[in-house]
Amino acid sequence: MRIQAAVLRDPAKPFAVEDVDLHDPGPGEALVRVVAAGMCHTDVVLRVLPRLAMPMIFGHEGSGVVEAVGPGVSRVRPGDHVVMSFDSCGWCAQCQTGAPAYCAEFMARNLSGSRVDGTSGATDLTGAPVAARWFAQSSFATHAVATERNLVVVDPSLPLDLLGPLGCGFQTGAGAMLNSLSVRPGDGVAVFGAGAVGLAAVMAAKVAGAADIVAMDLHPARRDLAAELGATRVLDGADPELAAAIGQVDHSFDTTGVTSVMTTAVRVLRTGGTCGLVGAGGGELTLRPDILAGRNVRYILEGDAVPQQFIPRLIELWRQGRFPFERLIRTYPLDDVNAAERDSAEGVTVKPVLLP
Ligand SMILES: NC(=O)c1ccc[n+]([C@@H]2O[C@H](COP(=O)([O-])OP(=O)(O)OC[C@H]3O[C@@H](n4cnc5c(N)ncnc54)[C@H](O)[C@@H]3O)[C@@H](O)[C@H]2O)c1
Ligand SMILES: [Zn+2]
Ligand SMILES: [Zn+2]
Repeated sequence: MRIQAAVLRDPAKPFAVEDVDLHDPGPGEALVRVVAAGMCHTDVVLRVLPRLAMPMIFGHEGSGVVEAVGPGVSRVRPGDHVVMSFDSCGWCAQCQTGAPAYCAEFMARNLSGSRVDGTSGATDLTGAPVAARWFAQSSFATHAVATERNLVVVDPSLPLDLLGPLGCGFQTGAGAMLNSLSVRPGDGVAVFGAGAVGLAAVMAAKVAGAADIVAMDLHPARRDLAAELGATRVLDGADPELAAAIGQVDHSFDTTGVTSVMTTAVRVLRTGGTCGLVGAGGGELTLRPDILAGRNVRYILEGDAVPQQFIPRLIELWRQGRFPFERLIRTYPLDDVNAAERDSAEGVTVKPVLLP
């Protein structure tokens, strides 16, 4: 079908909203009318990691309404309200043990931009392929073809235009605290970077009962927001004495992607503590081995979430007023996709959400 989508043809150029022909949903797939799509930093990190298939439709925090399903789909039906999250195969050892974020096919299914069989999912008006399978959705568009496995059905009474970012950024930050690091009441947590992922982590650390929640950012407005959302201390990420100011914590979490910040995040851990990393694009991480004495470091994908279980939990916390993620969101028409990217980079908007 003919759709409109924000297409990126060159990492050095802006997005352009174009007419594109989206392929019909195949086996195990569903056509979703996109109501909203959050912009995650991973949608723009290609500007510094230009190894991805081009042209590509980005967007991997979509929410919308199922319009049609392909052969063999039984868990979703037309009319269902859905959040689109990351895709996984369902059959590899990681999927079978409840860790779909580490699916053996994670890269192929989410980051290649194509289906696993290599097809692009869409063509432009000249008939040339356009990668339309970014995180099995490519939701910076009026419509997306997702898979049955990356759809999370939600209550139709919920505000669908707010829910898309639960599919990646908010799930990643909250899941890091509640799933990966298992923050407990009384713990100390340091969160580096108070963007969408970091602020979701701050809110979740508060939900978990952490006593000391230290949030760092370069933007004063983001530090203020972190304090409002649950940080007990906020510090300037540029402070040369940052590690001393933080002191020691049980858990640290880097969302900046800056390797020197990651080193600080490891240094502030108490013995036995764990540092979680999620940031992409920062280059090689160098650590003196003895810094790791009794400490752990792990790279976390998607907050170790099983989306169909974790997103409903986050929605329940939101209903209770304990995970007020709507405070991070600012909406933009799809045509303003480049303004959304600029506002995110300049720290003006924490979580841009496009309304196609
Ligand atoms: N691993 C995963 O599954 C996963 C999922 C989602 C996002 N990500 C990645 O997580 C990272 C964060 O995503 P986001 O959407 O929150 O991005 P964001 O740009 O909204 O947030 C990053 C924040 O870090 C701050 N920052 C930068 N340098 C800093 C420094 N030296 N000290 C303190 N703060 C600093 C920025 O000001 C910004 O507020 C990105 O790299 C993104 O690609 C990973
Ligand atoms: Zn798998
Ligand atoms: Zn993301």
